[in-house]
Amino acid sequence: MKETIGDLIRRLREERSLTEEEYARLIEERTPEAAEALQDLAVTVRRRIYGDEVFFRGLIEISNICKNDCLYCGLRRSNRALRRYRLSGEEIVSSAEEGFRLGFRTFVLQGGEDAFYTDEALGDIVREIKRRCPGCAVTLSMGERSRESYQALFVAGADRYLLRHETADKAHYARLHPPEMSWEHRMHCLRELRDIGYQVGCGFMVGSPGQTARELAKDLKFIEEFKPDMCGIGPFIPHHETPFRREPAGSVELTCYLLSLIRLIRPPVLLPATTALGTIHPQGRELGILAGANVVMPNLSPVGVRKQYELYDNKICTGEESAQCLRCLDLRMREIGYRLTVGRGDVRPDT
Ligand code: 5AD
Ligand code: FES
Repeated sequence: MKETIGDLIRRLREERSLTEEEYARLIEERTPEAAEALQDLAVTVRRRIYGDEVFFRGLIEISNICKNDCLYCGLRRSNRALRRYRLSGEEIVSSAEEGFRLGFRTFVLQGGEDAFYTDEALGDIVREIKRRCPGCAVTLSMGERSRESYQALFVAGADRYLLRHETADKAHYARLHPPEMSWEHRMHCLRELRDIGYQVGCGFMVGSPGQTARELAKDLKFIEEFKPDMCGIGPFIPHHETPFRREPAGSVELTCYLLSLIRLIRPPVLLPATTALGTIHPQGRELGILAGANVVMPNLSPVGVRKQYELYDNKICTGEESAQCLRCLDLRMREIGYRLTVGRGDVRPDT
């Protein structure tokens, strides 16, 4: 007899592995009851490793200049309507220092693929942050670079690297990106990063154009096999200056369901409740934590540039000061029975 969805979820918890077809069934045949059972399991698994702690990372959006033309992204080079900026080394380091005073111990430097940040320039910034903020971790999220570049930045002190794979399906990747970008190269970069010694994060958007349960099943299988330390997933949200302007946004419900599945597949993974999730629902980030996420990423960028880091429409937290975002998230976490903890928030062994 065919296994029920409930059976599949229980087996996933035990074995942390299913076939692609089974992952697809979990998505296509999901019911509100199954989602609730899955969420309970995910929360139990997360509590076993991380208790009621939620880690917070300071996101510093260092540049919105990008050489790429991803069809979903508001920073794409074809978007002429966007006022472009890049932060100086000093602006970046002082944003981190401000965060350090507020209790941040991880800084995520994220930006478009902007050639201004050479290995030397970025390496100097990483070294200076580590010098002025002792004991902190630096995460880079600066897209595809050469192995030599990743290596030099690792030597400069970068600890982690986020590079979303965007989709584990090659044909789907081609639908989301211009022809000069390749799925193979993206996957190659992820392997290089892992090889060099970074803690590595992959991830994808939920509800991106052309995505079905089949593509999502591939994403889950990829996560099962690649075993990332971090995984960033959030709903796709259309941006009005991109070719996907009229495409529907992804849903909170499916995003949370996938967060729970990823928690079961890979119990220790660092899983953020993303800003995109907070953008499509007023309690999106809380719902993400309640589904099994354990990280939030308040914005630490200088307030003057926040509106310009416009990956998608209506992004939240663009008018608030860094301290306000931290306080806001701290309150939000307490309201649902969790607490933000000061610390680097490294991945923990699965006990
Ligand atoms: N909606 C949601 N997420 C987006 N990203 C880029 N554009 C969008 C969008 N329109 C995500 C991508 C990228 C990350 C920095 O932001 O997954 O890797
Ligand atoms: Fe930025 Fe709530 S987290 S205002």
